[in-house]
Amino acid sequence: MANPDDPNAPVPAKTPAGAGGNGAPKPAEKHAVAAPATPNPEAAATPPAARAAVPAAKAAAPARPAAPPPAKEAREPDPNQLRRRLTWTCIVAFLAANFLMFLRFFFPRVLFEPSTVCNLGYPSDYVLGVSDRFKQQCRIYVVREPTQIFAIFAKCTHLGCTPDWKPGENKFKCPCHGSGYTPEGINFEGPAPRPMDRAHLELDAQGHLMADTSRLFTWDRSKGGRDEFNDDGSFVSV
Ligand code: FES
Repeated sequence: MANPDDPNAPVPAKTPAGAGGNGAPKPAEKHAVAAPATPNPEAAATPPAARAAVPAAKAAAPARPAAPPPAKEAREPDPNQLRRRLTWTCIVAFLAANFLMFLRFFFPRVLFEPSTVCNLGYPSDYVLGVSDRFKQQCRIYVVREPTQIFAIFAKCTHLGCTPDWKPGENKFKCPCHGSGYTPEGINFEGPAPRPMDRAHLELDAQGHLMADTSRLFTWDRSKGGRDEFNDDGSFVSV
C-alpha cells in the first residue's frame, strides 16, 4: 500500500464525479440520467404546422386602440370654457331682462279710480243743515240752506285729512291738526289756510242732485283769491 506522505508515490486515478469509492454511480444520479423527458400532451397534440402558425397570427392581430386618458382629467372643466359660459349667461340674462322690460311697455299700469260723479238723490231728501250721508261714499257733506244746496268736498285744506262733522259743536273739526270750519266750510281755527272746496252740483233730467268732485270751486282768502262759491255750478237753488 502506498504511503500518502510519500511525494514519489503514484497518484491514484480520479474517481468520476458522483461515483463512489468503487466507481459505481449513486442511485439518484443514476435515476436523473436515466429519466426520460415528460412529453407535453398539448404540444404533442398540436401538429407542427399549426404551432408555426400561432406566432404569425399573433403578429397579424390589429393593434389595440390607445388607452383613453385618465377619467380624472376628463372631469376637470376647462377654466376658460367656464369663463366663456358665465359671460354668455350674463349677456343672455341681461338681454332677456331688457326684452321683458320692453314688452312691459305694451301693458301699462292703469289705475281704475272710482267715478268722481255722485248721485245725491233729490233736494227734498235734505232738511236744513249738514248731512253726512255721502261722507264715506263720495267724501261729500251736503249742506241745505233756505235758498240753496251745495256740496262741500270733505278734504282739509291744510294737509288733506277728512274733517268730521260735529253736530254738537255745529262745526267741522279736522282730526289731524285741529282745524275748524263753520257749517258753510269756512275755516276759522287751526292751520287750515282757506275754506274747504265745494263740488260741482247740478240737477239731472230726473231731478237728482249730481255732484262731481273733479270740478271744484275754491275761495283762497289767504292769497286774495276770488270767491267761487257764487259761481254757477257751485250750488243748486231750491
Ligand atoms: S290736515 Fe287738517 S288741520 Fe292739518
